[in-house]
Parts: sequence; structure tokens; C-alpha cells
Amino acid sequence: MKKTVPLVVGNWKLNPVTMSDASDLAQATARKHRKTSDAYVAIAPPATYLAEAGKKICKSTVSLAAQDVSVNNMGAHTGEVSIMQLRDLGVEFVIIGHSERRAAGETNEEVQKKTLIALKHRLVPIVCIGERERDDQGNFFTFIEKQLRSLGKVLTSAQIKKAVIAYEPIWAIGTGDTATADDVKEMQLFIESVLTKIYDRPTAKSVRLLYGGSVKPGNAAILHTEGGMKGFLVGGASLKVDDFAAIVKAVS
Ligand code: PGA
Repeated sequence: MKKTVPLVVGNWKLNPVTMSDASDLAQATARKHRKTSDAYVAIAPPATYLAEAGKKICKSTVSLAAQDVSVNNMGAHTGEVSIMQLRDLGVEFVIIGHSERRAAGETNEEVQKKTLIALKHRLVPIVCIGERERDDQGNFFTFIEKQLRSLGKVLTSAQIKKAVIAYEPIWAIGTGDTATADDVKEMQLFIESVLTKIYDRPTAKSVRLLYGGSVKPGNAAILHTEGGMKGFLVGGASLKVDDFAAIVKAVS
């Protein structure tokens, strides 16, 4: 993947309700992204729809992403999906540590393990970080730094360069309350400064950063041009084919 080309990932979360709707959504998304554009596009359907979505997008430029992965490769782990099973389905990206998973108890240690597993099996981990709320004293920067340092403890420079970091402030997810382009830019510079402290400047500059949190057709262009990140992780708007296509167009 060329680092200069933006990446837009649609996180479908626990949607849609039926296989037939998922199949239609994947097909319609694929139709909108038949030809190579100036952006990489991926969709992350629920695990049960990955195989079907994979069939629908195979003749398009859309890639397949998973919303999570187990820390285990096989064995007695009820309800989990392993990295090998994902890879078998043609999955190329895996979202790790989404705030909705962290809210369900996922720890920084699990995020570390899942990221290493993804890299070992040559999938691209999209590691989510983000603060619950912002305070005037700027304590949220310390929180973000902790999340990054936790990754820095286990990933070498070569490994972090292969990962994607998605900054998703929790207060902006699904709320319509988007971070401003200035907020995003400030966070891009902050994340790079932390990565520079942990690794070095070239490493920090080559990690792909995404923004996520209420990205819509109406704010995508400004967030992209002024926010300084290299793409988006899109939730709600990825379920609307035209909106998702408009967001992709805004970064292309
Ligand atoms: P949203 O979700 O675009 O609906 O805010 C983003 C995400 O959770 O990845």
C-alpha cells in the first residue's frame, strides 16, 4: 500500500440485520468502487457476512476488513474468530481495540497481542485509540500517549510502520459531534510527536493515521485537507452507499 494514497474503511459494526441486506450493501458498495481511484477502500462487515461480502467485492477495488480478531489461533475459545480464519476468507485489514470493544472490557494488553498476531499473519492492523472526553487541562493527550506507548512497548519500528493507527475520539463516535479539522490536525501532530519519542521521526512520519468519528459527506473534505491524516474510519455513513462513496471521493 502506498502511504500517500488515503485509506477509507467502512466499519459496519453489527449491521445490517440480514445476510441478504449485507449482500446487497456489499454489492452496491463494490459497484461504486469498480475502478481504481486515488484512495484505498475497505469494508468491515460483521464476521458472519465476511464470506458473502468477499464474493460481492471481488471484482471491485474494495478490500475486506474484520472488526476484531481473537488473541488465540485455535482451541477452546467459544465465540472467537482467529486470524487464520480471517485470512482464509481474504481479509486484509483487521480493526483492533475499537472503543466499543474496549468498552466491553478489551485491555491495552489484548490490543498489543492482537496487533502482533495480525502482523505475524500479514494482515494490516488498524489500531484504534481515542479519549472518552476532552478536558480543558489537556489530560486527554496523556491518555492518548499512554495508548501509544502501550503499542510502542511491543512493536518494533518496522512493525509499527506496517500498522494503521485510527484516532477515534469516543465522544465523536456515532454522536454527530465531529472533531474539528483543527482538533484532528493537532492530534495528528501530537501522535507523530509521541511516535517520534518512542521511535524516531522517519518512523513517526510513515505510520498511517486515520480519523474516525461522525465522518460524513459534508465534513469529509475539510477534515481530510486540513486534518492532515491519511484517511478515515467510517461507521454509520458506510451503511449508506452514496454517503460512503462521497467520503471516498472527498479524499481522492
Ligand atoms: P461513526 O463511527 O462514523 O458512526 O461515528 C466511527 C467508528 O466507530 O468507527
